[in-house]
Amino acid sequence: MESLPTGVEGLDLLVEGGYPKGKSILVTGPPGSGKTILGLHFLHRSCQDGRKCILVLTRELTEDVLNQARSLKLDLCPFIEKGQLSIRNIFEDKINKIKSVSKFGKGLCAVDTDIIEYLSSMSSEVDVVVIDNIGVMAIHHDMREFADEFSSISIILMKNGCTSLFIMDEDSYNLTHRLTGYMVFGLMRLITQENFNSGKTKQYLYIEKMRNTPVPIKYSLFDITSQGVRIISGMKSQ
Ligand SMILES: Nc1ncnc2c1ncn2[C@@H]1O[C@H](COP(=O)(O)OP(=O)(O)O)[C@@H](O)[C@H]1O
Ligand SMILES: [Mg+2]
Repeated sequence: MESLPTGVEGLDLLVEGGYPKGKSILVTGPPGSGKTILGLHFLHRSCQDGRKCILVLTRELTEDVLNQARSLKLDLCPFIEKGQLSIRNIFEDKINKIKSVSKFGKGLCAVDTDIIEYLSSMSSEVDVVVIDNIGVMAIHHDMREFADEFSSISIILMKNGCTSLFIMDEDSYNLTHRLTGYMVFGLMRLITQENFNSGKTKQYLYIEKMRNTPVPIKYSLFDITSQGVRIISGMKSQ
């Protein structure tokens, strides 16, 4: 199966060269576990390889994410300038719309931005999509609506041949009964193990599912350095 490099050398080795091309991968984990950084690696590498990319942000400020990328030597600004990477910030768009429509006395509900509409119109020209963090959709909708929206987005992206990374915080993932794990091609979980005696934490990357890809090593120890995520060692699952 054709794959796209993840931007993390050690991870490519674990999944036969990278994320399966044209498929959706879900990354979940607690706050600070490295989800956004994994997304930045993938975008940076894909842009370097000449691919056209979209980053959809739902919670963080674009500026903060770009600064984070720069500090990890994964600067995305040159690719934005070249028109290779587009960033759509749902959160900032909403705030701006609230500011403008409030003058006319309209409420918050009138300004709900539609990710599906945006991706439907954009994704046919795009190779790589990263959505950080899709978990906010779980808060805005009931379970059925959320499942429908998530699968719609996933299907639109797959039909357009996009290789997509869905980042979802662990709380939303559990809140939605881990439903999204069934709807994607691949599922990776970042696990933080705390040792209260030593005060140190260990971080594991668990490749729970990757269809059509043999994954002999399911759990790998990793750390986050000034260069981003680095796989330290893998452990055979059996
Ligand atoms: N330069 C760095 N050196 C070491 N660790 C870093 C560095 N930059 C970020 N980190 C670690 O990465 C974490 C943030 O990762 P991030 O991908 O933003 O988490 P999240 O899973 O919440 O998206 C921080 O909590 C910090 O521990
Ligand atoms: Mg994040």
